[in-house]
Amino acid sequence: MPSSLATALRPADSPAFQALGRHHAIASQWRMHDLFDAEPARERRFSLEAAGLFLDYSKNRADAETLALLCALARERGVGQQRDRMFGGAAINNTEQRAALHTALRAPPGSGPGSAPTLDGQDIARDIADVLARIRTFTDQVRSGRWHGVTGKPLTTIVNIGIGGSFLGPKMAVHALRTHCDPALSIHFISNVDASELDALLPRLDAETTLFIVASKTFGTAETMMNAHSARAWLVAQCGAEAPARHFVAVSTNVAAVTAFGIDAANMFPFWDWVGGRYSVWSAVGLALALAIGADGFDAFLAGGHAMDRHFCEAPLEANMPVLLAMLGIWYRNFCDCGSLSIAPYWQDLQYLPAYLQQLDMESNGKRVGADGTALQTATAPVIWGDVGTNGQHAYFQLLHQGTDVVPVDFITVLQPPATHRRHHTALLANCFAQSAALMRGKTADEVRAELHAAGITGAACEALVPHKTFPGNRPSNTILLPAMTPHALGALVALYEHKVFVQGVVWGINSFDQWGVELGKALAKGVEAALTDAPEAAANAVDTGFDPSTRNLLARARAAL
Ligand code: F6P
Repeated sequence: MPSSLATALRPADSPAFQALGRHHAIASQWRMHDLFDAEPARERRFSLEAAGLFLDYSKNRADAETLALLCALARERGVGQQRDRMFGGAAINNTEQRAALHTALRAPPGSGPGSAPTLDGQDIARDIADVLARIRTFTDQVRSGRWHGVTGKPLTTIVNIGIGGSFLGPKMAVHALRTHCDPALSIHFISNVDASELDALLPRLDAETTLFIVASKTFGTAETMMNAHSARAWLVAQCGAEAPARHFVAVSTNVAAVTAFGIDAANMFPFWDWVGGRYSVWSAVGLALALAIGADGFDAFLAGGHAMDRHFCEAPLEANMPVLLAMLGIWYRNFCDCGSLSIAPYWQDLQYLPAYLQQLDMESNGKRVGADGTALQTATAPVIWGDVGTNGQHAYFQLLHQGTDVVPVDFITVLQPPATHRRHHTALLANCFAQSAALMRGKTADEVRAELHAAGITGAACEALVPHKTFPGNRPSNTILLPAMTPHALGALVALYEHKVFVQGVVWGINSFDQWGVELGKALAKGVEAALTDAPEAAANAVDTGFDPSTRNLLARARAAL
């Protein structure tokens, strides 16, 4: 087994894992309410602050022994050592022989964790500083109106064209930091190959004042390239062939493809193959965010991520926020058989956080073999899903409260009220805290009976309603509080989840930094597209021979419509 892997043991073979299995036989009988009664000041002992964030993890089906065993498992699986290897630039992405050094992007030079100055002899700290300096110059020029379009007008509309990690991070962060964004700039995101996005957006834009950022690590992603070509054609049609030079910039690792597309290398903001797409918001992929909130704001975002890095590297496992979140997730996934985790941001501007975390977690840890290629015996990434509160309460929270599956929830909210409509914020926080309390508390049949009796409903009518109005309770959640929605706090929050995902990957012994599972569909799509677009004869051949009967049938129907 390569030295990059956590340990020769499968997680289920480790003594701590087996002890947790035995422990679960007892813990599965616990009611969280009883744990609060049995452990004085549980809410204080089961909460902590890090990098400005507050985590309450007291509403979990876990006691001090559970946490001690979970931390023992983290230790046995080599979380500390693997963390140090990641921060030190080891090629922990073993199927691609790459480091995962997104932490270096947010490390002030020479300042501790993640500040690895060189990688394979390359001075990456200087490379990072150079790109950050270029981002600062460019954002200052655009925001001050000194960067002119081809007709001499300042650019006030930004369109980020990218998908996956080249889209979800900047979009999530630009929306989350809405109140920090320059109101003179409007920022848009185009990701889907479905032209509806372009069709809905472009007619509303003034080409003379629009800047396109083509963000793609590979600069070969089909959706992004098709959208970039269509956007360029639209721009050229309105402003002429010279326009792309002033209205298109690129963010990529692939300078050859960028220049082949027709964007001058001088207008390309590079990053590197040791930055995974879903970890790239800290790199030049964050350019749209930097334009929106300014270079100082972007620096504060990086500083928030770095503050969480420091905590992750320095705090003991037992008081380490990403480790605790991760290990509680392991508890639910591997011992309590919970198949999903719901993310519930009680802050409308965090509306894209669930989708962002979905890629981060599911693309990283949605794996069925270990880093050494052997089949895993334990379940890995849960399904990540969710929506903002209070909207979710009026939709799927029914299942969270009374469904047959237990779904742990991460509630995330912000303490400082917005400048306006403060009364709304009080209601928002009240709902957030009430939901986690209700999930834990539940409502017994006797309580329901008493309520119905008080309302004058008795006898058979009462008994018929009792099961429907009973809540099992004992449903776990974490609550994360941001002091205020600032770039620093958002940076810390994103880094928290990155490290949580990393820790879980180490415990499961998987490579969290590749994503081979997305390749098969991409490859097949090319053949399917050819079958849809080729000359009738060639297409008929492909339609007849290349695909399964269901796909052939769909292709035939689609060809008739195209
Ligand atoms: O298809 C998955 C993926 O490779 C993601 O990992 C990545 O974030 C996304 O596509 C976009 O890739 P790129 O930035 O190279 O266009």
